[in-house]
Formats: sequence, C-alpha cells, structure tokens
Amino acid sequence: MTFEEARAQFPVLERYAYLNAGTNGPLAAATSAAMVEELERESRDGRSGSRWIERILSLRDEVRRGLAAVIGVDAAHVALTESTSRSCAIVVSGLDLTGDDEIVTTDQEHFGLIGSAYASGARVVVTDADEDAILAAITPRTRLIATSHILWTTGRRLDLARVRERSGVPVLVDGAQSAGAVEVAAGGFDFYTVSPQKWLCGPEQTGGLYVRDPERLRLATPGHFAAASYEPSGAFEPKPGAARFDSGFTAGPTLAGLVAALGTHPDWRYERAAATAARCHELLSELVEVVTPPGHSTLVAFRPSGDPTELVAALDRQDVIVRELPGRNLVRAAVGWWTNEDDLQRLAAGLETLTQ
Ligand SMILES: Cc1ncc(COP(=O)(O)O)c(C=O)c1O
Repeated sequence: MTFEEARAQFPVLERYAYLNAGTNGPLAAATSAAMVEELERESRDGRSGSRWIERILSLRDEVRRGLAAVIGVDAAHVALTESTSRSCAIVVSGLDLTGDDEIVTTDQEHFGLIGSAYASGARVVVTDADEDAILAAITPRTRLIATSHILWTTGRRLDLARVRERSGVPVLVDGAQSAGAVEVAAGGFDFYTVSPQKWLCGPEQTGGLYVRDPERLRLATPGHFAAASYEPSGAFEPKPGAARFDSGFTAGPTLAGLVAALGTHPDWRYERAAATAARCHELLSELVEVVTPPGHSTLVAFRPSGDPTELVAALDRQDVIVRELPGRNLVRAAVGWWTNEDDLQRLAAGLETLTQ
C-alpha cells in the first residue's frame, strides 16, 4: 500500500488537518462501514441465539489477537476492556492495597490512571516524570509503579524497562499514547493498557489490558465473561489467562469496527509516524517553544505565546485540529503515520499568523 492509498482510507483528512489522534484517531471508511454492516446484520437477524453469540465470541477473539499483536504479546495475556481508565482500575483494585502500601506515580499522568491510584486507599507518591525520580521514590512499601509510557502532556517517553529492571517493583504502564503509535514490547512489564480509539483508529469504548501473570492478580470486579463456569450461588471458576479480566460486553458493531480498524495500518507505520513527528517538531520549533523532547513520541506539545484556548479555537476555524492541555498552558499536535507535509504546513501557517 502506498502512502497516498493508505491515507485515503480516512475521510476526515480530505478536509481537515486532523492532528488529534492523542484523543481519538481518524476513522477509516472501512471501519465505519464494518460498524454499519454489523448494526444492519443485528437489526435484520436479531441479537440473540447461538449464531449471534458465536459471532460475538469470534469477533472478541479476533480483537484480542489483534491487540496482542500490536503490543507484542500472546493473546492469552490480554483482557478486553472498554478503556485505559478501566484497565487501570482492574489492576489497582486487584492488588488489594491498604494505607500501608505505596503507589509511585508521576505528576504528568492522566486522571484515567491516577484516579484509580487515589481510589485504591494506598499512599500515592507523586514524583517528577523522570526515570531517576521514580526510582528514588521506591521504598519497601512500594507495591506498584503506575505511569505512562508516553506522557500525554509533554510527549516525553519514559524508559520504563530501566525502571522495571532497577526497581524490581511491578509496573502498570498506561499505554494510551504509545500502543499503536510507537513499537511496543509490553511483555517486559507486569501490566500494559491499550486505548484503541486513539492511535489504532478504532471505535470508542474499546480497550485492552496485558497481564503478565493473571493468576497473581485478584479478580476484584468480575464482568460477565469472567467465569469459565459458575454455580447458581454465584461461586465461579475464572477463565484461564487474562480473559478473566474482560470487563463486560462490547457491542457487535464496536467489535467489528475495531477488527476493521486494526487492518488499516501499513507495515511502515512506526517509521513513518516517527519521521513525520520529527518534521513537525522541526517546523514548530521555528515558531513556538516546543516542549516535547525530539525523537520521543508522535506527540508534539508546545507553549504558545498567547492564550492556548483561543489558539486552538482559531486553528479549528481554519480546519486544523489540535488540542489544548488544560491548566498547563500547552497545545498538543498528534502526528500519525497518515499525516502529510500539507497537514503540517497548515498547522505551521496557522501558528505563524495567529501567534504574531
Ligand atoms: C495517558 C492517557 N491515559 C489515559 C487516557 C484515558 O484513556 P481512556 O479513555 O482509554 O480511558 C488518556 C486519554 O486521553 C491518556 O492520554
């Protein structure tokens, strides 16, 4: 597939310089068609019976295998959830933490991660978003390091393999801004989350969770796919592997859409996205203060000279879509493998006229 053919899969790119896969990736025509087709199938044939449930289960298997391939792990270690936030909650609640335990996290996390940390009852130790600061915060009470692989704010990538190795403490990686954006080998961690609506261009309310050792995490909030078998009393035998952590039912159209979305990404996606992000970094550095370290990620965050809310709204009026990072005085462009030079030039031209 050539770059032009691959890019042409996304109708939104015909009009917009759509630079916000960090929130939601562009939807391919094949993805929306698969969702519509599944919905029509369900309206025509109904949503019950063995044929329907077999189809749902087979779509779930396909999604599980697809997400596992993206993060380089075996599908038996991947749970299907509805978000990174939910995946984090599954991990943190399963660790049965008390006020005597500590979770080490950073000051650059999304609420989807830290919300669960604070709700756990453990003491939350917040450090600078830096490998050495995280390591320095480890004590004998630390039960979990919970942090992002790529920070949603500055776009910095943390060397979490080093943190895992040096600390010896289980690591929950928030992979919302990494899975699908950069090459990931999740098997080096204890837990790794995926938000397919972002860099995998999937439908919303989808999610993945890698669990290295499913037997060692308590199933604190069983969804109805959790049990291999159960008694009328409610006593149950969990499914083998990470499937026991599946958080609940995902609609057929959503599953079909994600299967289609997973098929839209060319082999060269990571190289191309990295090169285009580097180009974006270079172009914007001439105009504004870019805070993302070069070469770290597919996010390019910058501090505009004026008001970021007004800037994002003014760019939006020019059909250039970026987002503000509230409370941080930052604006963030998200560069996908589908982004072209024209998208970047439109952003740069907008910044040039609007920040003078
Ligand atoms: C780093 C990070 N973590 C978590 C989330 C929340 O993701 P989800 O909607 O899949 O829970 C986001 C979304 O913006 C994010 O950027």
